[in-house]
Amino acid sequence: MAQTHADMKSNWRNLYGNAHVRLAAVPRAGGLISAFNSNVDAVIKIRGSHVKKYFQELGLKKEKLLVPGKPFIETPEDLFRGFLRCFRAGIAEEWLIHNIETFRWMENKIGYDKLQMGGQGGIIANTAAVCGVNPVYVHCASLPQTQAELFLDLDNLLAFDSQGSPAKACSIRRSEDALIHWILEFDAADKVVWENEEWVCPKSNRFIASYDPLNIKLHIDRGFQEGISKIQDNLGFILLSGYQMLTHPLPDGASGKERIDESVKTVKKWKEQFPQSILHFEFASTQDRGIRKHIVESLVPIVDSIGFNERELIDVLNVIGEESLANQCDQKTNSVNLFQGLHKIFKATNCTRIQLHMFGLYITISKKNAPINPQDNREGMMMAATIAAAKAGTGTIYQKENLLWAHGKEVSDLAIRELQNLAEYIGEKHGANELLETGYWEEKDFDLVAVPTIIVDQPVTLVGMGDTISSLSLIGARAK
Ligand code: GLC
Repeated sequence: MAQTHADMKSNWRNLYGNAHVRLAAVPRAGGLISAFNSNVDAVIKIRGSHVKKYFQELGLKKEKLLVPGKPFIETPEDLFRGFLRCFRAGIAEEWLIHNIETFRWMENKIGYDKLQMGGQGGIIANTAAVCGVNPVYVHCASLPQTQAELFLDLDNLLAFDSQGSPAKACSIRRSEDALIHWILEFDAADKVVWENEEWVCPKSNRFIASYDPLNIKLHIDRGFQEGISKIQDNLGFILLSGYQMLTHPLPDGASGKERIDESVKTVKKWKEQFPQSILHFEFASTQDRGIRKHIVESLVPIVDSIGFNERELIDVLNVIGEESLANQCDQKTNSVNLFQGLHKIFKATNCTRIQLHMFGLYITISKKNAPINPQDNREGMMMAATIAAAKAGTGTIYQKENLLWAHGKEVSDLAIRELQNLAEYIGEKHGANELLETGYWEEKDFDLVAVPTIIVDQPVTLVGMGDTISSLSLIGARAK
């Protein structure tokens, strides 16, 4: 008898039933390195009425604010040019602040509502540690008190001091330079009125203005390298991120590509030192095409696992000669097109495990006989989806008691539809399959796992969602 939509949802609710068992086993999954980018996120809600005040004070002219110009910040005017661009279109962008005076101006004039842990590396470290990964070693290009205080006060969350000795990350005071990313949030339907114009914001989103002279060149701390080299135990995971801020050339004229090559040398050493570990790379939104291509050519060949969202997957297709498939995915961003994109990337990179987290569905393709089998991948992905929903629903998973907030909730209708469409497409091309019922599909040369997710209708936060999903899918897969 054909399954009804309600049957499918209840089947998936049952399959999700073990998320808490996996979470309880996380301390046995092995230790972790989270490198390279951690920074301070200074979050502030900017209202249209506020902006007007700054425009007045700075004597800004409409024509100057509306020119496209360069996507970075030298003056306060550039800051508002970028902000207005995102506000008017309801889009998210991140621009770098190149000028220390403008950074100081922002510190004095803009301020913030709250400081929180930022950067993929920092977010992953806190998340892994609260879930019980033991130990977590987090790389920080700079670790002044403002940054250290944002690390959770946990005995299993460690960083290295300037002598290369391990200590609780939250207790270290190393250097004075805080690397600050302003997250300027704005609300749908808010208005900016200026010089007889009225701009209405179509969608709530954020503009990020980052002052980060170290992470933008993928600076690697010497103390961290020395400290890691002395670790005697084995580790289960090396998680890499932070390459997305690189440009070629760098703002100071040096080579961005060389910075990638430099990191590859360090990472290769870690792989030799920790032969049991899985080396995962989180792509993130990498604007510079040359950097993106170089990542695919020189870093991806040494990693065991890659993670990205739908936008980042399209960006990768664009640098591996798959422009038309990239356009297809861009125009119809659905599970069927994205699966085809994912498969192309799997073939082009020959990576052992690649995972897409799209809205409503996570899909992992892995090689036959990969170190992580499809069953474990599926359990890890469901644990990640449960905890990601907790983050969206409660606003923070940095309190242990929030982690299982979504346990027992149903997967969303949209998620089931995306999975159903994918199962039908595979059915037409390759014959009968049980993807919809089990999440598994086996091909000659790869295994596929697809998991529909729990969607929270009014998320309290979405910052750092991708980082959370990718890292926890992998950690959960090895937690047994
Ligand atoms: C980017 C931003 C960082 C933010 C992160 C969230 O890396 O630079 O400030 O915390 O995205 O994923």
